[in-house]
Amino acid sequence: MKTTGIARAHTNIALIKYWGKKDKALFLPMNSSLSLTLEAFYTDTKITLDETLEKDEFYLSNVLQQEAETQKISKFLDLFRIPAKETRFARIESYNFVPTAAGLASSASAFAALAGAMHQAMEWDLSRSHMPAQKLSTYARRGSGSSTRSLFGGFVEWNQGTNSEDSMAIPIDDASWDIGMLIVVVNGAAKKISSRVGMEQTVATSPFYPAWVESAKTDLEEIKTAIQEKNFTRMGEIAEFNGMKMHATMLASQPPFCYFEPDSLVAQQQVVYLREVLGIPAYYTMDAGPNVKVLCKASDLDKVRDHFKQYFSSEKLISSLPGEAMRTLTEEEWQESIQHFNQKGI
Ligand code: ADP
Ligand code: DP6
Repeated sequence: MKTTGIARAHTNIALIKYWGKKDKALFLPMNSSLSLTLEAFYTDTKITLDETLEKDEFYLSNVLQQEAETQKISKFLDLFRIPAKETRFARIESYNFVPTAAGLASSASAFAALAGAMHQAMEWDLSRSHMPAQKLSTYARRGSGSSTRSLFGGFVEWNQGTNSEDSMAIPIDDASWDIGMLIVVVNGAAKKISSRVGMEQTVATSPFYPAWVESAKTDLEEIKTAIQEKNFTRMGEIAEFNGMKMHATMLASQPPFCYFEPDSLVAQQQVVYLREVLGIPAYYTMDAGPNVKVLCKASDLDKVRDHFKQYFSSEKLISSLPGEAMRTLTEEEWQESIQHFNQKGI
């Protein structure tokens, strides 16, 4: 017997960062975080549970993945299979409409899409739960922490909670006001130090780490107030401050490490120029990679992008509006998606 599930989840960019785990096995974070889901980047994933399969098979962008990559996915699917005594193996087919492992949050959309597709393939009915997407976010979390937040659209908090059942995503605001983001792809290649390894090293060795955890708490409360008041300037200031504090903890790690590249600094300086000289409100943030994300008003996106064209080629500048929550796809939408991927590629 075969059952299938297909889901699309968008990536998210944290404005208040998740950096550090207090429980590595359960992916319980040291601090709560908050992000903006992006329309421009997403992952589509289909899972077929099939009793004729003799092992899990994982295809990413039409390519059959090696054992190590497949094992990561198998371990994740077992979170669903083992409690339900589900013995079927799975064929997993996934397409990233986002560069993989480049600090553009492919793991966030990946595990949120896997959770959505697996939930459907298992024929679970979480609609009987009073908070289905939140419940599902606790599963996504155990694939990659940041994916917790990709279950919802707009601004989303990942409340650190106290245990595996209550460390979950909470939708904060649908971001249907004047919000946009320009992604400056400084380098789209896979990074050398993954977020997972980078945060572990920081927690273990950075003397700045306790200060990070303390100040992230304050930043989160303040940004939630700014979002509630739709105060763009305040929101941007807090996000920029928080992101740079996270990077400061890494510079103070042993050995020190840094995700910035020379062009990351060029992009940061141009954001400051935009707001201080041209009077366009814009703020930057960066994740575990050299790429710079510019938070600006949706109504200023074209102006911001035009300005950046003086420094970066067009294909490295991707404008995005806020994205939507994870959703399941029909077989017809899935076929369209494959066609789109094969024409466009990423
Ligand atoms: P990123 O900045 O892109 O999130 P990470 O190093 O945190 O980088 O995560 C990248 C990893 O996420 C990949 O090496 C792979 O293991 C996993 N991943 C990315 N895309 C997919 C996908 N579509 N399905 C399953 N796993 C994926
Ligand atoms: C800098 O979620 O990729 O992007 O939980 O180990 O998979 P794991 O890490 P991951 O880390 C994301 C780190 C970040 C900040 C953020 O997204 O909050």
